Amino acid sequence: MRKFGIIGVGNVGRTVAYTLVTKGIADSLVLIDKDRKRARAEQVDLQDAQARLSTTTQVSIQDYEDLKDVEVLYISAGDVSISTNGGNRFDEFKLTSAVVKEIAPKIVASGFHGIIIDIMNPCDAVTSYLQKLTGFSKQRVFGTGTFLDTARMQRVVGEKLNINSRSVEGYVLGEHGNTQFVAWSSVRVQGKAIKELPEAKDFDFDALADAAKQGAWEVASGKGFTSDAIATCAVSLGQAVLSDARIVCPVSGYSSLYDTYVGIPAIVGKNGIESTVTLPLDTAEQAKFAHSAQMIHDSVAKLD
Ligand SMILES: NC(=O)c1ccc[n+]([C@@H]2O[C@H](COP(=O)([O-])OP(=O)(O)OC[C@H]3O[C@@H](n4cnc5c(N)ncnc54)[C@H](O)[C@@H]3O)[C@@H](O)[C@H]2O)c1
Repeated sequence: MRKFGIIGVGNVGRTVAYTLVTKGIADSLVLIDKDRKRARAEQVDLQDAQARLSTTTQVSIQDYEDLKDVEVLYISAGDVSISTNGGNRFDEFKLTSAVVKEIAPKIVASGFHGIIIDIMNPCDAVTSYLQKLTGFSKQRVFGTGTFLDTARMQRVVGEKLNINSRSVEGYVLGEHGNTQFVAWSSVRVQGKAIKELPEAKDFDFDALADAAKQGAWEVASGKGFTSDAIATCAVSLGQAVLSDARIVCPVSGYSSLYDTYVGIPAIVGKNGIESTVTLPLDTAEQAKFAHSAQMIHDSVAKLD
């Protein structure tokens, strides 16, 4: 039985739920929201959809005890308007750290023994706090991190070169936030290092990185939030866990060097983060990574 849970069914949580149900990925789904009416509304809407689907998902709501045998639990509670209004994901930390304080004991008490994928912002700092307060292993708790930012970088580079974004490989690393950076040394286009492509010799790489970073605000300024791309990233990570895919993805994982969660390439499989991958970053990229990781570490250290 492929069983998922989602805590927080706002714009992101409900899109994750919709994807899991309509693509037939979940056999069973638990929805929890502090707004009971909202959870009930999403349950009924998803149940109504199923008369037109060829797959069936049992959708239950509001019962932490039901998380006991959930394999993948997404955390997408919060209030997105706080970070979109200020343009800084850390603005939401006061609220989302309080959410963690409230839900962590309930998750633990349920007997949950699966994998947690955090989506809440500021993603790296919240994931660190969630791991600390649940006491679960660092393998079992990770965040979507720069998986989404990497997709944005692939889009921006793909548009620039007029090729499919899936022909662009590489990583955005560090914070899912303002101190993130594109590790251009890792970016390859149709198998070739981007910096060695003749057509890229006049590219302004800083401007491309900035365009990828601004992707979130471009979407949010038009619709008030982001949902489709992040839900797609989250579902794909959940599927990697369930199928023990062991694919390498840039997610928010624990770095022992900086004693914090931060966007790093990791092998995602049935145990969550199976291992992390160390890239041969150049000196400038190493400095950017250190700066980003230290900033996240210091923000979490301020919490009690
Ligand atoms: N990691 C990423 O790449 C990424 C991308 C988009 C959004 N986000 C973040 O994901 C989170 C959700 O975004 P959204 O647009 O769905 O927000 P939203 O404001 O639409 O929905 C948040 C939901 O969480 C619920 N909630 C709040 N506190 C709760 C609690 N204690 N227990 C249970 N439910 C609670 C609210 O009732 C609401 O339904 C935000 O933190 C947002 O910043 C992250």
